[in-house]
Amino acid sequence: MATQVDAETLLSEAGEVIAAASDDAALANAKARYLGRDGVLTREMKSLGRLAPAERGPEGKRLNGIKQRLEALVNEREAALSQMRLEQQLAAEAVDVTLPGRGLGSGGLHPITLTIERIEQIFGSIGFDVADGPEIEEDFFNFTALNTPENHPARSMHDTFYVDYGDKRGEDGGLLLRTHTSPMQIRYARSHQPPIRVIAPGRTYRVDSDATHSPMFHQVEGLWIDDAISLTDLKSVYADFLRRFFERDDIELRFRPSYFPFTEPSAEIDMRFGDGPLAGRWLEVSGAGQVHPQVVRNIGLDPERYIGFAFGSGIERLAMLRYGIGDLRLFFDNDLRFLQQFSR
Ligand code: PHE
Repeated sequence: MATQVDAETLLSEAGEVIAAASDDAALANAKARYLGRDGVLTREMKSLGRLAPAERGPEGKRLNGIKQRLEALVNEREAALSQMRLEQQLAAEAVDVTLPGRGLGSGGLHPITLTIERIEQIFGSIGFDVADGPEIEEDFFNFTALNTPENHPARSMHDTFYVDYGDKRGEDGGLLLRTHTSPMQIRYARSHQPPIRVIAPGRTYRVDSDATHSPMFHQVEGLWIDDAISLTDLKSVYADFLRRFFERDDIELRFRPSYFPFTEPSAEIDMRFGDGPLAGRWLEVSGAGQVHPQVVRNIGLDPERYIGFAFGSGIERLAMLRYGIGDLRLFFDNDLRFLQQFSR
């Protein structure tokens, strides 16, 4: 039987099948269908032997020509598929160079941290050390050593967060979240010799929450004990601090008599600006006083020989006045629009 395959018919049919192959697997199938061991063309070639010897040559040539053209179609399709794949990959991985870069945001310090650094720098420049201490404090350091009597309201559950630590509850009433920074002055003073000149900034905790109170807030404690430190020194140190902190000279101070168990006499320090939106209004900025003789004794010094002053100021309060912030809660909402205004 002479091979009957018509070149044009075969090539146009194969051309369609090959062109329709949309991936490598489909193309391999199409190739096998024509050129494979059992493919249409292979079968034709195998039947050459049955032709009359004179016909074999020309028919063989013809089939070879068809084979080459089929192979060319397959190769072309292969190249087209790989080109398509490349284009798809490029499109998928495309970088839009006109998009704004993501970059690494430059972090900034929290306004409270900036304020603490500022306070440390000012007091550091006049020779004050900076102390630290635990936020979970012993009742002894937070209250007892500070001469705070058993029935003082600050010791009640309404005011103080107590820490439940099972059966380890000590003689002294146990652990609590420190309600002020004063326990740090006790710790520092018990481990240093006079002259004691230190500030202790840090977090403090009270059961309190509204626009001007947060259950967690910051204070800075100041303590200066030596053999001749008076309230005059307190006044000049604190006035100097305020002028440098607010970077202005039109600040007036007022000491208003008050009461703290750990100072005697005690005062609230009020200040007022001579100018600006708050001009003329007295603003309370600190508690202060002369360290109570019993507290001097509690830190292991002789109150007949040593005397000093202490103060405790709210850091949020100072920051709010410095930056003109109306609501204390803004400090702790973690709103970047607020925080970013302070990053340098
Ligand atoms: N510890 C006091 C408070 O938190 C502040 C204070 C400190 C007052 C030192 C006097 C002396 O209210």
